[in-house]
Amino acid sequence: MADAQKIVDKAIKFLKAEQEVYGNFSVHEMRQVNIQSKNKQAARVIATDTNQQLDNIKTLDELAEHCKSIDLLKTELKEANLVMGSGNPNADLIIIGEAPGKQEDLQGEPFVGRSGQLLTKILKAINFEREDIYIANILKYRPPENRDPRPEERLKSLPYLLKQIDIINPKLILCLGRISAQTLLENNGPMKNMRGSFHPFMGKYELMVTYHPAALLRNPNFKKDTWEDVQELRKRYDELGCKP
Ligand code: URA
Repeated sequence: MADAQKIVDKAIKFLKAEQEVYGNFSVHEMRQVNIQSKNKQAARVIATDTNQQLDNIKTLDELAEHCKSIDLLKTELKEANLVMGSGNPNADLIIIGEAPGKQEDLQGEPFVGRSGQLLTKILKAINFEREDIYIANILKYRPPENRDPRPEERLKSLPYLLKQIDIINPKLILCLGRISAQTLLENNGPMKNMRGSFHPFMGKYELMVTYHPAALLRNPNFKKDTWEDVQELRKRYDELGCKP
């Protein structure tokens, strides 16, 4: 619990400092959700703006509209497009990548570039169509030059992603790559320590970690582990009676 409180305090301090820079975002209330403090994974914060709009949002469309008004979610690419997510809004499985790239920014959809094509193949290999599941990213906007999302960008985007997860209410979450896994698990460990098992998440979901398709394109040695992970994921999906 002490760890959870520290994370909340850090987030409040950070968001208040940001508020001074970006006047349109004021921190009215911070609350901890789903404190299930084992391994500090489930300490989560949700920031609500002055009108407590985040709290009142009930649908993905409303959330997307709201995100469009939050400049804080943008990177330096001020003209970039919002990439919220795509797929089945009632999915039992959400896949979470890192951030949109150039193609995703142009098309307004996650994972439509080269790594997206590989992701589609991986999903097909375990009998999923993209429409069966929901796909999102930690960041809602493209960072320039495909750089890694910065810690403060991840922190700013997290409440909106958690709200998105909350609305969809899946049973399983698959994090693709280190950035996604480290952000959601609040763990700076290496991939090899985070993959290979299901982590309890937000008190009600099971979260698995595997390699990002872009990493597989660079290093085919990761394919074997990824294949094992996604087979486990499919098995668990069926065991839990999940449906598209
Ligand atoms: N990589 C990601 O992590 N997300 C995308 O949407 C595309 C590439």
